[in-house]
Amino acid sequence: MADKIILTGIRPTGPLHIGHYCGALVNNVAIQNAGDYSRMYGMIADAQGLTDNFDDPEKVRRNVIEVALDMLSVGYDPEKTTLFIQSAVPELTELTFYYMNLVTVARLQRNPTVKGEIAQKEKFANGLPVGFLTYPISQAADITAFRANVVPAGDDQAPMIEQTNEIVHKFNSIYGDVLSPVKIVMPDSSLAARLPGTDGNAKMSKSLGNCIYLKDSADDIATRVKTMFTDPKHLRVEDPGNTTENPVFIYLSVFAKPEHFAAFLPEYKDYAELAAHYERGGLGDVKVKKFLNAVLQETLRPIRERREMLARDIPSVMEMLRVGTERARAVAAETVDAVKRAMKLNYFE
Ligand code: TRP
Repeated sequence: MADKIILTGIRPTGPLHIGHYCGALVNNVAIQNAGDYSRMYGMIADAQGLTDNFDDPEKVRRNVIEVALDMLSVGYDPEKTTLFIQSAVPELTELTFYYMNLVTVARLQRNPTVKGEIAQKEKFANGLPVGFLTYPISQAADITAFRANVVPAGDDQAPMIEQTNEIVHKFNSIYGDVLSPVKIVMPDSSLAARLPGTDGNAKMSKSLGNCIYLKDSADDIATRVKTMFTDPKHLRVEDPGNTTENPVFIYLSVFAKPEHFAAFLPEYKDYAELAAHYERGGLGDVKVKKFLNAVLQETLRPIRERREMLARDIPSVMEMLRVGTERARAVAAETVDAVKRAMKLNYFE
């Protein structure tokens, strides 16, 4: 589909970890490199990041560059993907304000992703900022500003896409046919879509301290793997073990390739053989963790090396973002013009 316009977005609220890597980044880079689109954008969603971090501007600022380094080091290519910073495209804020008329408070409160986030956030216990409640509207602005019709994302983003399409339809029915609907494209494997934390928690998250970051050193990775949660009932090597709720095995099922088995654990042909042995009993955690460490080291070393190289020249990374942002801004400005014309706000034309 040559008229495909793809937008991906990441909140810069922390460095990216292997959960982001297998849940989104690998998929996005594969889409980028397949080249089956007319335009692809990679947005660093700092303004959205601020909706629950407005009290920590330094954190968001610092992580814009961290996330840019992460994106480049996993293979985002500025020649193919327009990388830009959300807040530096003020047209997005302008669109958000007009779209706000088209959404009710009740509809925002029903958005399951937003609802879940609000419930989890202690800092919102005494009052919910309007900015946070309305971020799905700003996300609709992000998507429609670039006329994106494909958004690759995890299932947590499905409610955002649904709300975007509601806004698109409402806008078009009131003001005329200006905005285009959008589709979410989710990664194939549901397992890869959400990697558990190293502690076995369902989610990898900075606040839980259970992440392996793309920028982690070889030693950091080794330590994390050594202390990983496994099957608490697998006490002795002979005991049968559980692999399905065991993060060590979940990570292996995602990251271990046949060539890793050939290089580091040739007694087993593939994941299925290794998992079967663990479930039967007779396979110790230390051996499995050593293998996982080798697999992760192999996977992350080239990313880290690229990242270290890029980090030596931050001004070049900033310049790349500036150029991308300028290009993105020109496209968003065209959409704002069309939107304002449709809304009869084109007084001086
Ligand atoms: N909500 C996304 C996240 O939390 C980030 C995001 C902002 C986004 N705007 C977007 C994603 C537009 C896709 C399209 O990761």
